[in-house]
Amino acid sequence: MARRRQLYEGKAKILFEGPEPGTLVQYFKDDATAGNGAKSGVITGKGVLNNRISEHLMLRLQEIGIPTHFIRRINMREQLVKEVEIIPLEVVIRNVAAGSISKRFNIPEGQRLPRPIVEFYYKNDELGDPLVSEDHIIAFGWACPHDLEDITGMSMRVNDFLCGLFSGIGIQLVDFKLEFGRCWEGEDMRIVLADEISPDNCRLWDLHTNEKLDKDRFRRDLGNVKEAYQEVARRMGILPEN
Ligand code: C5P
Repeated sequence: MARRRQLYEGKAKILFEGPEPGTLVQYFKDDATAGNGAKSGVITGKGVLNNRISEHLMLRLQEIGIPTHFIRRINMREQLVKEVEIIPLEVVIRNVAAGSISKRFNIPEGQRLPRPIVEFYYKNDELGDPLVSEDHIIAFGWACPHDLEDITGMSMRVNDFLCGLFSGIGIQLVDFKLEFGRCWEGEDMRIVLADEISPDNCRLWDLHTNEKLDKDRFRRDLGNVKEAYQEVARRMGILPEN
């Protein structure tokens, strides 16, 4: 097959022009970065695992009525997705304190939060993705109040569903990051879940031992990164054969 035109290369994925108008091919790389590019490395096989894990989670979310950009997986490293206009926000949902919220408020990692907390970060590498308020988002026109309500509502539903899904396989969903996009169907616009959901953008801890099964193993040099991602895929019942 002729190589498709590359439209965008991010830290962990490449987007190519899709076979039909309004579609893109999302390619999962093995590259890993942390601290906004301060640390980088390659985790052999990560792209294959994340492609499978994200496919599985996007399909389960579609089944409960969450609109997503996912169309179908094409091969080990690629999936066909709808072309969307990415909203420049990283939406982080937290159930348990860890990472930046623990530092910001001096809360011990592992302490359950009084209720799930939704945070918004402005997606901008140069600025280091700063934390922003709903007022910033509306005033700067990144989303209108109605879109923001949609995004928050969907994020909470995704959280409820994923907490249940992961706890069923012995994993605690500590926190995760979502991205959303605008999808145009004729005159109609709707907000859909985009990007990926994988151990690259979730904190997943074993329910009993609190062992980290996510990208913190890379960020914090804990070793066995690929094995942790494989364990998540294995528990989800989707471990690729290779
Ligand atoms: O670093 P922090 O504690 O704010 O991260 C919260 C969650 O968001 C983590 O699950 C992390 O993997 C995810 N995240 C991400 N991409 C970023 C920042 C955070 O996927 N740029």
